Amino acid sequence: PQRSHLVGFGSYLPKKIVTNDDLAHYVDTSHEWIYERTGIVQRHISDEQETAVYMGTQAALKALEFAGEKAEEVDAIFVATSTPDQIFPSTAARIQAELSIKHGFAMDITAACSGFVYALATANAFILSGQIKNALVIGTEVYSRLLDWSDRRTCVLFGDGAGAVLVKAKNKEGGILSSHLHSDGSIGDILYVDGALGIKDASGYIRMNGREVFRHAVMRLSEVVDEALKSNGMTKESVNWLVPHQANLRIIKAMGKKLGLMDSQVIVTVDRHANTSAASIPLALDEAIRGGRIKKDDTILLEALGGGLTWGAILAIY
Ligand code: ACO
Repeated sequence: PQRSHLVGFGSYLPKKIVTNDDLAHYVDTSHEWIYERTGIVQRHISDEQETAVYMGTQAALKALEFAGEKAEEVDAIFVATSTPDQIFPSTAARIQAELSIKHGFAMDITAACSGFVYALATANAFILSGQIKNALVIGTEVYSRLLDWSDRRTCVLFGDGAGAVLVKAKNKEGGILSSHLHSDGSIGDILYVDGALGIKDASGYIRMNGREVFRHAVMRLSEVVDEALKSNGMTKESVNWLVPHQANLRIIKAMGKKLGLMDSQVIVTVDRHANTSAASIPLALDEAIRGGRIKKDDTILLEALGGGLTWGAILAIY
């Protein structure tokens, strides 16, 4: 049977780095406060040229190069983003154009910080159904646009960037073993963007009840990780690497501990990237694979939770 294998990885980070100390000039905060509660030291912030389309395209080109595949061979592009440059054409269609791809299809998927897990699960479903033989799955985010730079409770947490993975159907064991998606719209008000274009009196900024998000993250991610292992008849000992969404080091550590993993088996980028939402997992994957940490045949567990609420996990063999 055909399975979806992860064959290419790429990422892009904006040139400008903003440290915690830099932020302390704008809002009443400190490096110590931010670092102790989140593990964040710095974040990358986009300039006007570093749009969602530009960064996603750069990440996709690197993933194609890694895999030794040509853009014109790509059947589908799934882009996870909550910060598109425009409502439509989709970010995915615009990246398709940047890559001069004329066949197949492209679509955006919006699931906030769970976006990459949702997009990869979608690509996997299309591959398993035989409708496509490969796909670019991209997370690209410009959260700096959604931040109220006078709100210290949110502006210190996020950064910009993009990551991409090329998945390919292969008649070979391994690859994506299973995906597990969940949402609960009834608690959407603990993390949301206030309004959209044309909505009266909307600020357009992120609003968050940090404590509630923290509580749900630990609970829901624990459940979904158990579900992923159980559905494959696996125990936590089978997992070589946790590649979590990078929101907060305390949530990441809690999940590593739950899985009985050593700190060295948990991929962490939140210290340098902060929370890049749907881009955080492919950014972390790219770094861990190019850095030689995750190796062929290793079992990796991806998990994320975000606004919606949405959450999910994917178990795969590299
Ligand atoms: N600097 C200094 N003080 C601050 C800052 C800051 N950047 N932010 C908040 N404070 C103050 C608050 O104003 C409050 O002061 P007060 O008591 O005088 O009103 C005090 O610190 C405590 O605020 P809390 O919000 O209760 O702080 P908490 O200990 O919960 O930490 C945090 C906040 C870090 C956001 C935490 O709740 C958390 O990690 N939540 C998870 C949310 C998350 O990661 N969201 C990311 C998006 S969702 C996702 O990707 C999963």
